[in-house]
Amino acid sequence: MTELVPLDQIPPVQIEALLDAAFGADRYGRTAYLLRKGSTAIDALSFAIKDDDKLVGSIQCWPVQIAGTKLVLVGPVAVLPERQGQGIGHRLMYASLDAAAGLSEPAMVMIGDPEYYDRFGFTAAETGGWTLPGPWERRRLLARNVRAHHLPGTGMLERADAL
Ligand SMILES: CC(C)(COP(=O)(O)OP(=O)(O)OC[C@H]1O[C@@H](n2cnc3c(N)ncnc32)[C@H](O)[C@@H]1OP(=O)(O)O)[C@@H](O)C(=O)NCCC(=O)NCCS
Repeated sequence: MTELVPLDQIPPVQIEALLDAAFGADRYGRTAYLLRKGSTAIDALSFAIKDDDKLVGSIQCWPVQIAGTKLVLVGPVAVLPERQGQGIGHRLMYASLDAAAGLSEPAMVMIGDPEYYDRFGFTAAETGGWTLPGPWERRRLLARNVRAHHLPGTGMLERADAL
């Protein structure tokens, strides 16, 4: 039976194995990794799904900032390849979004496929003037709740120590 648990209950070595399976072991060069390097994941927004004690999916969220304003970087979102397409990604996304609602709905950003993440309210419409500390595809830089928090239309996304 599947169970949603806080990610900090999962040994880091298991999370790394899941991320390798979902993204490949060359994932460390991705720009999203540069944004969270040296940061600590936000425990209250990070979750795992276990199935009979086996880790099958995870979502991590991190503090970042743009022009001094804090927001949440969502990702990686990872589901074991053999368990994809069974609703685990949806469950992980809603776990983080529901938890974020309890933290006054912070603005959130992620690098991901708009065809999947638009259903969760993430869009590239407000991020056209943002830059990142590495290469990225503009259509895949997605954000949520940007206007509500009056985030700047231009600026560089950078790591942050805390939300
Ligand atoms: C992307 C990912 C997190 C989705 O999780 P999942 O559990 O497989 O997805 P769900 O079961 O919740 O949703 C399935 C639906 O999403 C769609 N979908 C899944 N990945 C998609 C993508 N990259 N682009 C567009 N649609 C996608 C499926 O076609 C399916 O659509 P349907 O409901 O119309 O049939 C997962 O496939 C994964 O880990 N992929 C590899 C790593 C990755 O690319 N992560 C995202 C970047 S942070």
